[in-house]
Amino acid sequence: MKAASQPSVLVTGGAGYIGAHTAKALHERGFLPVVFDDLSSGSREAVRWGPLIQGDLRDRAALSEAVATHQPVAVIHFAGLIEVGRSTVSPDLFWEVNVAGTVNLLTVMREQGVERLVFSSSAAVYGQGGRGPLETIAETADKAPASPYGDTKLAAEWMIAAQCRAHGLTAVALRYFNAAGADPSGLIGEAHEPETHLIPLAIAAALGDGKPLTVFGHDFDTPDGACLRDYVHVTDLAAAHLAALTVDLPAGAFEAVNVGSGRGHSVLQVVEAVGRAVGVPVPHAIGPRRAGDPPSLVADPRRARELLGWAAQHSALDEIVADALRWEREPAYGAGHRDPANRRRSPTPV
Ligand code: UFG
Repeated sequence: MKAASQPSVLVTGGAGYIGAHTAKALHERGFLPVVFDDLSSGSREAVRWGPLIQGDLRDRAALSEAVATHQPVAVIHFAGLIEVGRSTVSPDLFWEVNVAGTVNLLTVMREQGVERLVFSSSAAVYGQGGRGPLETIAETADKAPASPYGDTKLAAEWMIAAQCRAHGLTAVALRYFNAAGADPSGLIGEAHEPETHLIPLAIAAALGDGKPLTVFGHDFDTPDGACLRDYVHVTDLAAAHLAALTVDLPAGAFEAVNVGSGRGHSVLQVVEAVGRAVGVPVPHAIGPRRAGDPPSLVADPRRARELLGWAAQHSALDEIVADALRWEREPAYGAGHRDPANRRRSPTPV
């Protein structure tokens, strides 16, 4: 499978949503993505461009063996727990996987001389802080995570930065805003179980096979009272990882970079966009706020352009929704694939 000149990159969590899209981008740029994933939430079918090693980040021996076998030139580290709500009830588990798991990875990288890391961080490190609702967020903004999930991402960033200073590791932490959409090939897409994200839930509601969507809160201090988010196409996110992997940085550098489009869309604007794409209005009701939701998270994307030469190319809301809809109608794996009753092919007649 591996050509002599094809450098390996270890992709922890490469069977997950953003990991799989990045593995495809690595393949297209001549790297061999070696996926290390415990398949607790990722899909075996999403691993198409290189080998899969089924293993848990907490198992240092398994990580060590994976690195010794494949001799990666770099690691892209996605593996971790991501559900904000779950983190509030099981913070210990989140620290064990997201923080202690990252310690294991850093130790193995140091032991075996892997000197380059790209880390999946999150806009969750910011929380709402003292920002106004229409202010974009630069990397220097206050860090005030609103959940244990955000705490673990920030703690992992600090630890990685310290490892860079101490041992000459070079690392880029990418702070994602709202990943959405799917690869236009239809081979890979979003398959969370249970699904909690707005765009797939709005599509399911419009296609009539999910529950009506609940809009979480209508009394935020935002233009239409609904939360504002910066939706970034997963293909753009994957490209940001390639840029972070290959950018010329001095040994020991640590950089944290926002990955967003710089444009905010409210939940109600997303509901309208999904309705336009499907051709029927999204059935929805206004409900209470969801705990821990900051009113507004919109990136200032300037640092990504300056440092990485990256800017979103496919993150117009209508393009994101069109690609997400194509996937939800014909998912290649996940619950909608296994259970035809969950197939989201055609809208409910209205
Ligand atoms: N929303 C609804 N109804 C739903 C689902 C979501 O109104 O049924 C709203 C949320 O309140 C939020 C927006 O839609 O305002 C987007 O919600 P998502 O759940 O799709 O995404 P989040 O912004 O909550 O989460 C994202 C990432 C997380 C990350 C978080 C940081 O998916 O991994 O940003 O705040 F932790």
